[in-house]
Amino acid sequence: MARIIAGVGSSHVPAIGAALDNGKTEEPYWKRVFSGFEKSKQWMAQAKPDVAIVVYNDHASAFSVEMIPTFALGCAAEFPPADEGWGPRPVPVVKGHPALAAHIAQSVILDEFDLTIVNKMEVDHGLTVPMNLLFGQPKDAWPCPVIPLAVNVVMYPPPTGHRCYMLGKALRKAVESYPEDLNVVIFGTGGLSHQISGPRAGLINSKWDKSFLDNLTRDPKKLTRIPHIEYMREAGAEGIEMVMWLIMRGALDDKVDEVYRFYTVPASNTAVGHIILENRRKAAGKSRPAGRGKTTSKSKAAGRSRQAAARKAAHRIASKGTR
Ligand code: DHB
Ligand code: FE
Repeated sequence: MARIIAGVGSSHVPAIGAALDNGKTEEPYWKRVFSGFEKSKQWMAQAKPDVAIVVYNDHASAFSVEMIPTFALGCAAEFPPADEGWGPRPVPVVKGHPALAAHIAQSVILDEFDLTIVNKMEVDHGLTVPMNLLFGQPKDAWPCPVIPLAVNVVMYPPPTGHRCYMLGKALRKAVESYPEDLNVVIFGTGGLSHQISGPRAGLINSKWDKSFLDNLTRDPKKLTRIPHIEYMREAGAEGIEMVMWLIMRGALDDKVDEVYRFYTVPASNTAVGHIILENRRKAAGKSRPAGRGKTTSKSKAAGRSRQAAARKAAHRIASKGTR
């Protein structure tokens, strides 16, 4: 069966994409930001997920104000980079996983989360920037297929943190009922504190952000009770993007290993946050439903050894992680 091995939280500041695309990664301002993702790229290269589910928000690129789905699942075979005003970013086309996406749509919708099924969609910085931060800058192809899950955080009312967390649990159930032996990593993107316009433009609240990250690891249920107004007040108008991290967190075990964290301010006007959370081996093993799916002992062994490799990499990172 398929399983979620880890969750990744990452900001998706568009200026990070522009710095990459324009060869500015060695400039001191940007080096500070990119250096925080070096270990993460190593971790990802070792984890070698078969599929990534990337929870992100569209910034009026694929959806205009005319139509804004609350939760939209990308079921297409590919998702080209969107033109956000300067032409599409020079990144590979994102390849989807239509079979797993269709399975997730069925499982989650029958579980009473009414996802919008999207069979054609371009993806913007909300998805492509975290891809670069974790997978680097491949020329021709990303290393694994991606299932985009777009969440409305741009027009009131966005979903509640609790709804997001529960959707994460439904996603996990969906993944674990897929018969193929796949290791899946789930991304929550956006944030951390930032406000792009208005009198409070430039707002950053590091104390609040760090407490959010602490609770994300240790007490995510507490975060599910944060009302929208608190995100707005404490983390700025666009800080509401952080609810998407709760979808990622809901898809993981209650108890997880935080194997890496990075936080820096600012990038553009935004606080950059990043975390890697791993499911524990025992819990992942226990949750495996008996007798479901047909996997050969060879493919099971391959899955296990990949998980073990990911954990080894994680422990190496954990001992050196940045706070
Ligand atoms: C900016 C835009 C974003 O979507 C975001 O998440 C952070 C910053 C910006 O325009 O600077
Ligand atoms: Fe954003």
